[in-house]
Amino acid sequence: MDEIEIHPVQPADTGEILTLQLAAYVAEAQLYDDPHLPALVQSFDELAAELRDSLALKAVLGHRIVGAVRGHLDGSVLRIARLIVAPDLRGRGIGTRLLAAIEAAGDGQAEWFALFTGHLSSANIRLYERHGYEETHREQIRPDLTLVHLTKES
Ligand SMILES: CC(C)(COP(=O)(O)OP(=O)(O)OC[C@H]1O[C@@H](n2cnc3c(N)ncnc32)[C@H](O)[C@@H]1OP(=O)(O)O)[C@@H](O)C(=O)NCCC(=O)NCCS
Repeated sequence: MDEIEIHPVQPADTGEILTLQLAAYVAEAQLYDDPHLPALVQSFDELAAELRDSLALKAVLGHRIVGAVRGHLDGSVLRIARLIVAPDLRGRGIGTRLLAAIEAAGDGQAEWFALFTGHLSSANIRLYERHGYEETHREQIRPDLTLVHLTKES
């Protein structure tokens, strides 16, 4: 989508990004039968602090924020999290563009990119593998939820 632009997140975007995050993670809540996923119970203040302390990017279509992602530099590793796209605009390459943009934003400082997703989120895993990420390990955090950790060399 040519008209999509990627920009740094501003503090004033926090409310819209929280709403977008809630909408984006509904499908994950259904997948894991869990309405209390961390992304769904995060408070405005927690999100504001996280955005302030991260490299945070948004995808904008006109006046609407339609996607976002954040990355946190941890030594030589850029930990990428909360890649979200508005449910009505999925499958058009916005997630792919945001992932490429956050990698570019961390490039130069990061030697590795790292992220994780749930074991049932096969579309997410496909997206990351298409981008060159490889699974490093799995971490069972509940009987019904295993996190799949992936990394990619910068
Ligand atoms: C994960 C997520 C961010 C992906 O966003 P997206 O914008 O749909 O991603 P893309 O469009 O780049 O890629 C998704 C699919 O669209 C296809 N696609 C990519 N570019 C495309 C284009 N220009 N036109 C049509 N389809 C395209 C991809 O091939 C991919 O297909 P696949 O699922 O069959 O492999 C989004 O689904 C989301 O918000 N999920 C909920 C939150 C979440 O789970 N986030 C990840 C946390 S780890």
